[in-house]
Amino acid sequence: MGKTILITTGFIILLMMSACSNNFGNMDPPHNDKEMPNHHMNHSGGNHNSSDNHMAMMGHDHDMPLQSSTGNNEMKVPPILESDKETENDVYYTIDAQQGQTEIFEGVQTKTLGYNSSFLGPVVKLKKSQTAHVTLKNSLDEETTFHWHGLIIDGESDGGPHRVIQPGEEKEITFDVQQDNATLWFHPHPEGKTAKQVFDGLAGLLYIEDEGMEDTYEYGENDFPLILQDRTFDDEKQLDYRAVKDPDGTMGETLLINGTVNPRLTVNKEKVRLRLLNGSNMRNYTIKLNNNQSFEQIASDGGLLNEPVELNKIQLTPSERAEIVIDFSQFKTNEDVELKMDDGTVLLPFKMNEKEETESENKIEQSTTPVTINDEVLKKPVSKEITLEGMGRHVSINGKKFDKDRIDLTQKQGETEVWEVYNKPDMMGGMIHPFHIHGTQFKVISINGKKPPKNLQGYKDTLSLDSGDKAKIAVKFIEKGTFMYHCHILEHEDNGMMGQIKVE
Ligand code: C2O
Ligand code: CU
Ligand code: CU
Repeated sequence: MGKTILITTGFIILLMMSACSNNFGNMDPPHNDKEMPNHHMNHSGGNHNSSDNHMAMMGHDHDMPLQSSTGNNEMKVPPILESDKETENDVYYTIDAQQGQTEIFEGVQTKTLGYNSSFLGPVVKLKKSQTAHVTLKNSLDEETTFHWHGLIIDGESDGGPHRVIQPGEEKEITFDVQQDNATLWFHPHPEGKTAKQVFDGLAGLLYIEDEGMEDTYEYGENDFPLILQDRTFDDEKQLDYRAVKDPDGTMGETLLINGTVNPRLTVNKEKVRLRLLNGSNMRNYTIKLNNNQSFEQIASDGGLLNEPVELNKIQLTPSERAEIVIDFSQFKTNEDVELKMDDGTVLLPFKMNEKEETESENKIEQSTTPVTINDEVLKKPVSKEITLEGMGRHVSINGKKFDKDRIDLTQKQGETEVWEVYNKPDMMGGMIHPFHIHGTQFKVISINGKKPPKNLQGYKDTLSLDSGDKAKIAVKFIEKGTFMYHCHILEHEDNGMMGQIKVE
């Protein structure tokens, strides 16, 4: 019996391999076991699940379980970057990509990369309407770029693969901050090397704040970023990207939140705002509270939702953000409260402190400019079609791989166009591709012909598409330049699942 299954499985794999090579040309050499395409899909309850009609057994998503957090270490909170100078309208920052060593595990130094530190980066705060001057320094021994994920910025300053800064060099960019309150982030984007540099630690947060808006939350008190990343460490507790790299997206069994292994978070019994960022190379997280209590989502990728949305589960694919508010005053002090994944993995246990009754409830002012899609846009025909396809090294967009000398699309500055993005299933079922566009925040018109759920009705820069999903999005570029659009599974991006649009 066991033998039959083995032989059958082997036969199926052989079949798939030959099918692949027929269809896509050259086949990769066999990889290690975890890349064999017989893993179960990691669907994990999307907001808009398309039916699981594809052959799950033959899906090529991964299933590397994540270890639960023991809660042994208080979660680190990244520092806020101090400006070099700030005047009434201008702010100056320096961001330095560097190598270093970090004590992630007690008593062990791990070689890591970071911005202005040995690992990860500080929170860069920008105020709406300010002019920002940022000096970008590359102290690494390899080339890098500085990309502002989710920021509305001109193509020159956006830090895509063309904007390489050589080791030892620096460059200043200047831009006006035009967005409302938002949790954005920055990371490297050098061609073919993004995944490794992010894996090794290059990722930081970028907050946009609108000073005119009331917001009683306090950073590090009851307003915390949570950068979720999974990593594999070798026997010496080092990050060896080459050894664990997977062309379909590298996963790890060790969870880090803000670089903290086995994190816990101590909170007061009050409303606490968590700014979640999936900073992983490919893992999707479906996050809920262990007691199934509901929480509120107040913001998506590009800023505040029109109104808080009550949820008891949220899915984040790579690069997506969500700000959620959990009301800890509803729990008993010694109650076990934790953030969990759908499959039961503990992400973050909480420890609760009593809070003085007298203090008023934390709140944030609702956006005064609600996100809406007007009729004129809704009536527009689709003018850009994007098809995401393939797996591993054979990924493509509209049948092509990234070529930095080829412009794939053009769009007029300030004009809204309707893009239709399709995640085409393949013979092995397919997988989630998080579709991201640089230099814009778009609006989701529909997913599979239906209006998106409430928490996808705000500004987005990355949209998770399940295999077979077709979405319509309204895209407008405020700034000129050449911008990337790509799958945010970093290995897919590195493998060429990326195109460029020129905005004039
Ligand atoms: Cu996080 Cu090209 O993007
Ligand atoms: Cu981006
Ligand atoms: Cu992808």
